[in-house]
Amino acid sequence: MGGYEERILVTGAAGQIGSELTLELRRRYGAENVIAGVHKKMPKEIIESGPYERIDTTDISGIRACVEKHNITTIYHLVSILSAAGEKNSNLAWHVNMTSLKNVLDVMRERKEKGYTAKVFWPSSIAAFGPDAPKDNTPQDTVMHPTTIYGVTKVSGELLCNYYWLKYGVDVRSVRYPGLISSMTHPGGGTSDYAVEVFYEAIKNGHYTFFVRADTVLPMMYMPDAIRATIMLMDADEDALSTRLSYNLAAMSFSAGELAEEVKKHIPGFSYDFRPDERQGIADSWPRIIDDSYARKDWGWKEKFKLKEMVSDMIKKLEPSLKFS
Ligand code: SER
Repeated sequence: MGGYEERILVTGAAGQIGSELTLELRRRYGAENVIAGVHKKMPKEIIESGPYERIDTTDISGIRACVEKHNITTIYHLVSILSAAGEKNSNLAWHVNMTSLKNVLDVMRERKEKGYTAKVFWPSSIAAFGPDAPKDNTPQDTVMHPTTIYGVTKVSGELLCNYYWLKYGVDVRSVRYPGLISSMTHPGGGTSDYAVEVFYEAIKNGHYTFFVRADTVLPMMYMPDAIRATIMLMDADEDALSTRLSYNLAAMSFSAGELAEEVKKHIPGFSYDFRPDERQGIADSWPRIIDDSYARKDWGWKEKFKLKEMVSDMIKKLEPSLKFS
């Protein structure tokens, strides 16, 4: 953790990752040391459990003011437009994803130049790969020719982060998250969203229509593992890190059909079908199984949840609130 007091800003604190990460960071570092950066959505759990600021991360002056006011040492920069939403408005996706990231890096570069601690976590994704990368055991270093604007912002962002590390010494760390499955906050506008939606629909309505084919396989991870991996990477010794681009990160890979069958074991009357839409093409352009041996070797990554454990935990968490709602 270093010899300084952590003062953290989480941007996108109301989002799928941010809502859970903010609460975990508040448990670890003390609520008063973790500022939730929110924009439009203001979830109760977040704004009632610690300090928050309304920030538009595409405006650098707001980030700078927040970082100076709260003496921030570390930013977890999670604001992003996801893959399917990005295809509907590529200008917006580029603007939000790239302008925000550059703003965060520039503010932390200024802090570094003034002699303060300047750490950044920024997520990349399996979407950084394109159709010509190996689909199975996709290596850490391989061709990266994504065919979505979201993927283009992820590859560009990885390069930008690496540059700010090399040139300005900003301590930037990153992972390529798989599709993330969570029980607290819905993802929005992603391609891997079916793996979350299925739980809500199965419990509430007993039926789900997948927007991908049954044989669609993607790397996935349960949110408690994703939060743990993020904190492990941020806690890792600088010398242990062999890349500043972005670590491949994995936990499990399964097909949409296998997921449906596993859900059905817990909800016997559950029925499902498959009606692929434009998101099928996005899923088909991504890896099926990721090789994350660098993360395992460099900072000791190991997942706790596979398909079976994840499904049973999701249902246990969601059923009480959804069943009779
Ligand atoms: N889960 C994201 C999406 O589906 C990819 O990082 O867009």
